[in-house]
Amino acid sequence: PSITVMNGPNLNLLGTRKPEVYGHTTLSDVEDLVRADAEKLGLELRFLQSNHEGQLIDWIHETGPAFKAGESIGMVYNPGAHTHYSYAIRDAIEGAQVPVIELHISNVHAREEFRHHSVISPVARGIIVGFGVVGYSLAVRGLYELHEAEVS
Ligand code: DQA
Repeated sequence: PSITVMNGPNLNLLGTRKPEVYGHTTLSDVEDLVRADAEKLGLELRFLQSNHEGQLIDWIHETGPAFKAGESIGMVYNPGAHTHYSYAIRDAIEGAQVPVIELHISNVHAREEFRHHSVISPVARGIIVGFGVVGYSLAVRGLYELHEAEVS
């Protein structure tokens, strides 16, 4: 089976954007990190990033049937700022019935007020917040464990 790790707007700038908040690791380093994790768990990795809401929605829709067919165990998703206002992305996750682990590199609750609320959390299977890029590994492992518990 496969796992999708998807990143939303501005995460292509990881490593250079506000390193005091998001660290110096680049998105390509994150890809290497989760590729190693996925390999250890026997999962094929689909690693995606887009700055475009419609593209992200299309990828969520694609993951739905793959999950239903047992070809995908779901998605680890950092929605970036879409987290705080995109009802379209929330509806896509709900409609596609894909298990999604919502992930934030920073502790959004310790930051500006507008980052405290997530419209995605009610449709997420689990949430990882504030562990830096290590959170991606934790989320991959967590989704894998949830999947194992559910199929066994
Ligand atoms: C983020 C937090 C969001 O508030 C922000 O807009 C991002 C990144 C994080 O990973 O901490 O783009 O999702």
